[in-house]
Amino acid sequence: MKVIKTISAMQKYSTHCRKISRSIGFVPTMGALHDGHRALIKADRHTNRIVVVSLFVNPLQFGPREDFQQYPRTLTQDRLFCEKAGADILFVPNGHAMYPDGFQTTVLVGKVTQGYEGQSRPAHFDGVTTVVTKLCHIVAPDRVYFGQKDYQQAIAVKQMLLDLNMPIKMVMRPTVRESDGLAMSSRNTHLKPNERGAATVIYHALKEGGRQIRLGERSGARIRGAIERVLNTEAVVNVDYVGIMHPDTLEEMKKLTGRVVLAIAVYIGKTRLIDNVIVRVPTL
Ligand code: PAF
Repeated sequence: MKVIKTISAMQKYSTHCRKISRSIGFVPTMGALHDGHRALIKADRHTNRIVVVSLFVNPLQFGPREDFQQYPRTLTQDRLFCEKAGADILFVPNGHAMYPDGFQTTVLVGKVTQGYEGQSRPAHFDGVTTVVTKLCHIVAPDRVYFGQKDYQQAIAVKQMLLDLNMPIKMVMRPTVRESDGLAMSSRNTHLKPNERGAATVIYHALKEGGRQIRLGERSGARIRGAIERVLNTEAVVNVDYVGIMHPDTLEEMKKLTGRVVLAIAVYIGKTRLIDNVIVRVPTL
């Protein structure tokens, strides 16, 4: 595996790959890699000739009171991780090269970024879609890989690729979970032992939502209530939102039909965690 640190070297490499018709699959990350990233790299490896992983903690997607400074930075482990997982290239640009003095362009996606994460974290998605646009221009992949845990992010990127005529396919892969159901996340390392225990309630709550739907409940409001009741059994958990959303438009679903995304954001102590499941609604 080769580590590329400059934008020009990365562009030169991808131009060469494209010239000799090698497909490029791209996994953008902020590091602190875990099995969720491993699954993305594996899916990428399966389909593409060249596997590129980027590692860049993007300041633009963190709010002023968010955890940019505290975000785990584990470059040495991440490098080994990528090598073992089967990446060909680890691209590690530096902050000043990505956002030099005078940088002034932002990519804003509309409606699908406005609710849920977009409401709780203003400007977060502007930072995500800006950096993903830049990284995709530099890496020039055929496919870009995202985990389902960040469902709204994946949909925002898909919309952006479509709207900006970027010839790149967004591939979303299922969330990878710990054995007790907690979705893998770089932020899990911030949890204190009692908080880590309590965090399992997130997946229990999502499963309860799915169970109620299978039992015949079709009211979005009542499913939200059922999910919140489970979350509230843990005193250290503070609910930010419970979303009952359409899988494509991300609009709130009042009456459930087809497929629905049940999404949760909570604070556990100072750590903010998100998770979701997609449920197929049986016809009654
Ligand atoms: O999901 C992430 O880790 C980040 O939002 C991403 C896509 C790498 C952009 O910084």
